Amino acid sequence: MSNPTKPLLTARYGIAESWKIANAERAGAYQVAKRALTSIEPAKLKDEVKNANIRGRGGAGFPAGVKWGFLNPGPNDQVYLVINADESEPGTFKDRSIMDLDPHRLIEGAIISCYAIGSHVAYIYVRGELASSVTRLEDAIADARKAGYLGARPFGVDHEIEIHVHTGAGAYICGEETALLNSLEGRRGEPRLKPPFPAVKGVFGMPTIVNNVETIAVVPDVIDMGGDAWSALSRLPADGGVRLYGVSGHVRNPGLFEAPVGITMRELIYDYAGGMLAGRPLKAVIPGGSSTPVLDPRRLVDAPGEDQPLHAWHGKSEIDVPMGVDTYRALGTMLGTCCAIVMDDTVNMVEACRNLMRFYKHESCGQCTPCREGTGWLVDVLNNLCAGRGKPEDVDLLVDISNNMMGNTICAFADGTAMPLLGFVQKFRDEFIDAAHNGLPSDVRHDHSVRREVEKVA
Ligand SMILES: Cc1cc2nc3c(=O)[nH]c(=O)nc-3n(C[C@H](O)[C@H](O)[C@H](O)COP(=O)(O)O)c2cc1C
Repeated sequence: MSNPTKPLLTARYGIAESWKIANAERAGAYQVAKRALTSIEPAKLKDEVKNANIRGRGGAGFPAGVKWGFLNPGPNDQVYLVINADESEPGTFKDRSIMDLDPHRLIEGAIISCYAIGSHVAYIYVRGELASSVTRLEDAIADARKAGYLGARPFGVDHEIEIHVHTGAGAYICGEETALLNSLEGRRGEPRLKPPFPAVKGVFGMPTIVNNVETIAVVPDVIDMGGDAWSALSRLPADGGVRLYGVSGHVRNPGLFEAPVGITMRELIYDYAGGMLAGRPLKAVIPGGSSTPVLDPRRLVDAPGEDQPLHAWHGKSEIDVPMGVDTYRALGTMLGTCCAIVMDDTVNMVEACRNLMRFYKHESCGQCTPCREGTGWLVDVLNNLCAGRGKPEDVDLLVDISNNMMGNTICAFADGTAMPLLGFVQKFRDEFIDAAHNGLPSDVRHDHSVRREVEKVA
């Protein structure tokens, strides 16, 4: 099944040299920004964003309109917009497509957002490795400035707006919004204690809205259609619109798809991503970037009570629950960045878990002891299990370490490590116990060769 709605976010992706201002403008770029700045009051723009029910696309799913409402700047305060383009979570590759293929959509969204929240300066903090995104953005900003859409009087309106691109240096933790702010200020990229939240005290000590690239990129469509109409594109209440879904792993047609909020994982895998590679069975899927607990298609939703949020899906497979921030939370996982990693029956869950945990150990900033120590211990225990040096008690030790990490650190990195680990152990415990007795089966010790076998069959 293809996307039943007209593409919005990806509407200009197929245009030749879509990143150039003339081509983007021929396809409608900057018309909404012009209308917004010249004829719509900032308060009305904020209302539309609130009505749109945009759940933040960076992972936590916080409603953008509510976040914007937290701003209450003093008379001498400068309000900043910071756009989070760090995109470093394993499995996540959506924001870079916006920056590479339609940077003018992001700039247009930033212009409207700055005007709405009373900001004159936006920073786009881009992951350093995304060199092409940085070039595209810098060129697009220069062209927008030349066209009179940025600068002292954008579209002739007396509200100066400047956008600056700032590159990170490839640290995953700098995607956490307060570590990002520290990095932007030239400090070490370590998360800050909250409160105060950035909307109260953010970059340079000033009120700051931090939003994900996709969150800001949808703003032109929200203003163009009206918040209610855009929200209604979704299949779910209080979680509006359309979004980018990424799919990687063992599917025939991996890639990015634009679709309404609320499609199911089954639809995403089988209708959008072409189904499983070589017709093999789906074993598990990590739904929204590596920090989100894995789904097991064999598990059925257990929500017998009519008052339970997932009652309508009682008895159905986990992959038949609509993909939304609240539905997935009720399912015990997270929608995260909405970029799924699909695994077939050739994947050993202990090895997959170890692979992810190695990433978290490497990326922990080390500021908080439970995270710095916990990530290392998780990898050590998993290494022992994979090498056949483990004991059955090690499985509970993994759970114990994870429980001691959760909620005991400054930022959500530790939770984003512990939650997926707990999901793996809870849903695939037999494989962990088996590894404790026997190590990994010989054919999964070298997972690249397994992948090659799968490709040969395909
Ligand atoms: C370890 C860690 C990494 C994160 N990385 C990103 C990221 O790369 N991009 C992003 O937008 N949000 C990331 N976030 C979430 C941000 O802290 C923040 O919630 C988000 O940028 C807010 O934007 P949104 O409300 O539009 O989603 C990360 C959070 C954590 C804890």
